[in-house]
Amino acid sequence: MYRIAVITVSDKGSRGERVDESGPAITKMVESLGKVVSYQVLPDDLDGLKWALIDLSDREKVDLIFTTGGTGLSPRDNTPEATLAVIGREVPGLAEAMRRESMKKTNRAMLSRAVAGIRSSTLIINLPGSVKGARECLEVIMPALPHGLEILT
Ligand code: MTE
Repeated sequence: MYRIAVITVSDKGSRGERVDESGPAITKMVESLGKVVSYQVLPDDLDGLKWALIDLSDREKVDLIFTTGGTGLSPRDNTPEATLAVIGREVPGLAEAMRRESMKKTNRAMLSRAVAGIRSSTLIINLPGSVKGARECLEVIMPALPHGLEILT
């Protein structure tokens, strides 16, 4: 069983102005893969997000981090930039597959700038912010994750 962290990235969620449904939905969906040992709701702040990713990877040494939200085009959408700043290697196929399959459901899928990559032995994956988007994307990549994590750790 892998150790997993979930970060919901949302200004409104972090201020308590919106109840986060995506984080709990992801937590439920990854039950078969491992245990969610950390769940946080953070604002769309580039530096705060970078430090959270570094802390979870280097200190907590989780195997997998899912972020949800902040992948779109708004000026406050910083999640891909925070992720790219902390990873050593990209895993482009995960983001490619999510966008490709999601395009069959909504052409708005092309508006997600989500990335995935590796920081030492932690895999970091961006998901869109809506419950629907997060679920649809996670469904696409879930079958490949056990093998990916096996060769990573
Ligand atoms: N992907 C899937 N599978 N389903 C969706 O409903 N929503 C899109 C896209 N990806 C969506 C999706 C929309 S509307 C946006 S704006 C982008 O994800 C970015 O969302 P975010 O800023 O909440 O991360």
